[in-house]
Amino acid sequence: MLTSWAPYAVPVLGLLGLVAFSSVRDQRNDEFPLQPQSSVAVGWADESSCADCHFEQVELFLQTGHAQTLRTVEDSRSQELLQVFQDSVSEYDQTLRVDLSGRDVDVVSQSGANSRSLELDWCFGSGTHAHTWVGTLPDARGQRDLVEFRWSWYHETASFDITPGQTAQKGSGYFAPLGTLFDTPKARRCFACHSTVLPESNGHVDYNAIHPGVTCQRCHGPRQSHVESNGEIQEGFWQAASQMDSIKRCGECHRIAEDQDPEDIKPENPDIVRFQPVSLVQSPCFKNSPQMTCVSCHNPHRPLNSQNSSGIWQCVQCHDSQQEDHVLCSADQLDNCLECHMPKIQVFENIQFTDHWIRVRKSLPKIPN
Ligand code: HEC
Ligand code: HEC
Ligand code: HEC
Ligand code: HEC
Ligand code: HEC
Ligand code: HEC
Ligand code: HEC
Repeated sequence: MLTSWAPYAVPVLGLLGLVAFSSVRDQRNDEFPLQPQSSVAVGWADESSCADCHFEQVELFLQTGHAQTLRTVEDSRSQELLQVFQDSVSEYDQTLRVDLSGRDVDVVSQSGANSRSLELDWCFGSGTHAHTWVGTLPDARGQRDLVEFRWSWYHETASFDITPGQTAQKGSGYFAPLGTLFDTPKARRCFACHSTVLPESNGHVDYNAIHPGVTCQRCHGPRQSHVESNGEIQEGFWQAASQMDSIKRCGECHRIAEDQDPEDIKPENPDIVRFQPVSLVQSPCFKNSPQMTCVSCHNPHRPLNSQNSSGIWQCVQCHDSQQEDHVLCSADQLDNCLECHMPKIQVFENIQFTDHWIRVRKSLPKIPN
């Protein structure tokens, strides 16, 4: 089964450890992580102020998938790819046209006398795996639904293809020739996982004031008093979180085991591979190491490709042949640990993920070229 970008399993936990958020926790609609309530913006410092004192984190951080995961349609990368799409669109869908000539970006589907058009306004994804465009639509009550465009750009093939979760066969709704319609709560969820703050005005998300991307205060909580006090440490800081709380903070967007049907949590199920916190906690490594969290192997302030992730340093922290008390590979291997114990799995047609359920496998998965 193909899961979409926004699967039905939705995290029910907020940044639960953060005391800074606890005053709003009670009022939240538990359906999506960062409730776009104006009160969340209370205590909020300008994100750019972090660079004044934390230039080391900030410089590399800007290259991460987190920092780049949401951009406006006008952004140069988005425009460049839409230009490519405009020039080659007839290869994908003869009824479709992309109009970049005006101030807006419009996609138009023309089938006989039937014409449907959608203005695209945001581009999701850093492009590490994919870019997916959406158009938000105001309704009469000032809410916004969202149409997820049918065509995404994939890094793996450097070309466009159908967006994950959408089918080659077009549906029948009004927007079906152009994509999938999401109602207001679902639309908010996309933004809640791909941005730092969703300010509200008059009870509605103010999309003009979104801070796009998962940046410092999305993980560290509102920091105004920290900035004003020249760096005083606040309660609820990340290093003080317990092992499970730490996992759940990342799992708020990357999903946690509690979001899944227990039936689905089996080693052979490729659908959970995309949800690293779900898989990791099943591993004997995790179960037997009270100190293991996501941060054991990931520095959230650096892009993945600068972390030598394909090396073995992560494993050697606990499986070092120089250490007498460490458990070593019983197949006598000293290298390439990931290949056999943490391989990449084809999850969507054009996207692979790393299986975080670290284990001994009877056979290795075949990855089509
Ligand atoms: C005026 C300088 C200054 C600014 C501006 C600043 N910090 Fe800090 N920050 C510090 C200092 C100093 C420490 C180290 C405190 C210690 O170790 O005693 C620190 C520590 C931290 C820590 C680790 C400890 C903890 O409280 O969790 C985080 C996270 C952090 N800062 C985040 C941020 C973010 C996010 C911003 C931007 C909104 C920011 N800082 C802006 C000076 C600053
Ligand atoms: C607010 C939601 C959110 C939280 C919280 C979050 N992530 Fe992510 N993470 C994302 C999104 C969205 C992406 C996809 C980014 C992209 O477009 O490439 C991502 C991508 C990543 C990647 C791939 C990075 C890359 O540069 O390609 C890693 C690794 C990762 N997250 C680890 C973590 C860890 C570890 C934590 C906890 C410390 C965490 N994430 C917390 C939303 C989140
Ligand atoms: C529960 C949080 C959550 C929701 C809701 C969500 N995403 Fe994501 N999204 C993530 C995380 C985490 C990743 C990184 C891991 C992955 O690719 O699955 C990601 C990855 C992506 C990527 C690929 C980024 C890359 O280049 O690696 C795109 C594109 C994307 N999401 C678009 C969307 C759209 C569009 C919606 C709404 C229809 C949506 N997402 C809803 C958390 C979420
Ligand atoms: C995806 C979540 C995430 C984001 C985004 C994030 N951090 Fe962190 N940060 C963490 C985690 C987790 C730790 C704890 C690391 C550890 O225990 O080794 C941490 C630790 C820190 C620390 C203290 C330890 C250290 O590495 O010096 C500082 C300071 C800090 N972060 C600043 C920032 C700033 C500034 C930004 C934005 C540029 C930022 N963080 C963005 C998750 C995040
Ligand atoms: C034992 C080490 C280890 C731990 C612990 C770990 N990861 Fe990873 N992770 C990796 C490796 C290795 C990769 C592949 C890196 C690459 O391809 O460059 C990876 C890749 C990723 C990616 C990129 C997409 C993918 O699946 O390839 C995301 C997102 C991610 N990890 C999130 C997390 C989160 C969230 C946690 C905590 C629940 C976590 N990881 C814990 C080693 C680890
Ligand atoms: C934080 C410490 C830690 C890290 C990091 C770690 N492991 Fe482990 N791992 C353990 C512990 C503890 C066990 C349980 C050993 C035992 O049987 O007592 C274990 C067990 C295993 C097993 C046996 C699993 C089974 O199915 O029985 C494999 C395979 C394994 N680790 C591979 C790896 C690989 C590969 C990496 C790097 C990607 C890694 N580990 C990283 C601590 C760790
Ligand atoms: C060519 C595939 C391959 C590579 C590469 C590999 N392993 Fe293994 N590993 C295995 C197999 C197969 C087993 C189970 C052997 C058996 O039947 O006991 C195993 C078992 C293990 C165990 C369980 C040991 C126990 O006593 O329960 C650990 C821990 C482990 N490997 C760690 C590693 C680490 C760390 C690396 C990288 C330094 C690594 N492996 C590289 C195939 C591999």
